[in-house]
Amino acid sequence: MVKKHMKKTPEKRDAKKRGEKEDELRVKKIEFGIVIDHIPQGKSWKVSRILGLDENSQSTVSLLMNVPSASTGLKDIIKIEGRGLTKKELEKIALVAPSATVNVIRNYAVVEKYKAKLPEAIEGVVQCPNPNCISNKEGASRFHVKEFSPLKLQCDYCEKVYSDHEFSF
Ligand code: CTP
Ligand code: ZN
Repeated sequence: MVKKHMKKTPEKRDAKKRGEKEDELRVKKIEFGIVIDHIPQGKSWKVSRILGLDENSQSTVSLLMNVPSASTGLKDIIKIEGRGLTKKELEKIALVAPSATVNVIRNYAVVEKYKAKLPEAIEGVVQCPNPNCISNKEGASRFHVKEFSPLKLQCDYCEKVYSDHEFSF
């Protein structure tokens, strides 16, 4: 039997250089785009909905679920090639994944890293879950943070308090 010589791909060579074993390489680094890291386990579905990642989106997307993390046990990660994030998208992400970090990647390097942070007043980002709330008739919305962990938002119009899972995106 002749043993075939398997040539290593550049990717595998890079993984070796970084000290990873070949079977530990999950998803390769991206050249341009964004990496949303440290998403709480199980929340990547919601985040991808916020970002409009559906059958019509054109970007190359990697969705990693239940990735072992040094600090928090398991986490989710989303990598999107060739696009950025709007302020509104970032605020929505902060609602469902307050621990997330957003990394902006250019030429394979992390050129910006920031935390998805909720502003004092969350305006025009999500609708009030209360169907009778006047804000829904006016096509406006404004909430303020009542409690950070677990997150509770109070509607400035009907004054009811809501948890993140009560909002739809
Ligand atoms: N990443 C990527 N492509 C690149 C650069 C980074 O996909 N070209 C990913 C990394 O795999 C990681 C995230 O972006 O999931 C952040 O990268 P980096 O800042 O290098 O990692 P850490 O220092 O571990 O980040 P943190 O301190 O935020 O945990
Ligand atoms: Zn309301």
